[in-house]
Amino acid sequence: MDVKGIVLAGGKGTRFRPATMATNKHLLAVYDKPMIFYPLSLLMLADLRDILLITSPRDVARFQDLLGDGSRFGVNLSYATQEEPRGLPEAYLIGERFLDGHPSCLVLGDNIFYGQGLPTIITRGFTRKSGAGIFVCEVDNPQDYGVARFDSEGRVTELLEKPRSPASDLVVTGLYYFDATAPARARTLTPSARGELEILDLATQYLREGQLSVEQLGRGIAWLDMGSPDALIMASNLIHVIDHRQRLKIACLEEIAWRKGWIDDTTLRQAADVFADTAYGRYILRLLA
Ligand code: TTP
Repeated sequence: MDVKGIVLAGGKGTRFRPATMATNKHLLAVYDKPMIFYPLSLLMLADLRDILLITSPRDVARFQDLLGDGSRFGVNLSYATQEEPRGLPEAYLIGERFLDGHPSCLVLGDNIFYGQGLPTIITRGFTRKSGAGIFVCEVDNPQDYGVARFDSEGRVTELLEKPRSPASDLVVTGLYYFDATAPARARTLTPSARGELEILDLATQYLREGQLSVEQLGRGIAWLDMGSPDALIMASNLIHVIDHRQRLKIACLEEIAWRKGWIDDTTLRQAADVFADTAYGRYILRLLA
């Protein structure tokens, strides 16, 4: 059964104030394109074309202005709103109708994943019908994330949100796979001490049933979350360097769609016209040449 995609782009964005007083943080530029392009591109690279974008009621029209129905880059994009940022599993309450019994891949709107073989690594988890999948990555500030605890045989035994003394340096990234039972499971969750439904509580249900696969992202994959202005600058610099040095754009949605055969030359040329006289537009023209 087809896997559907969800991008979560709500949240408070408090760490970006005052910028987020006027706009949603996921619309801020990361080098040359809006932050939201990066998680969207990840779902596209994993061949997911039915995508739900969830954001706040204030911002949904801005995303619709920017991305439309997704046909410009070969996907079916729909929208839903989250009244308040009450936690990531709420995506499964809001998105239940959209999912319509399908498994899904959830990505946080402020996460960037980049590296060779990424699509294969992500889609490996999808072949499984039941269960869930998370991706962990080594960082130097595990106390700021959800941390995985391992037993002596390297199996995950526990997932802990922002622990004071982390049991490992491996943290849970903002990319999750859940089978069709996720909405029903999300309904059983209760808010944590910080007043949110916790994605780790959802993942822990699967873990206890022996249904959670944990994949470690190795050194070939870069993972950044853009949760603060400092992290955003770092991400912008990385994208800038790759763009200039390798003359390759990361997260050019039109390029991904065109390479996959989801849009034709004419649609790609129209995109180049929209971005005429920009490096982004010239890049698209170069693809056609
Ligand atoms: P957070 O790291 O909680 O970030 P935030 O946007 O709420 O900002 P801040 O901490 O500065 O107040 O969220 C991670 C990502 O998940 C981010 O892309 C926003 C999104 N999100 C939602 O869309 N809904 C939610 O209920 C939560 C908790 C997060």
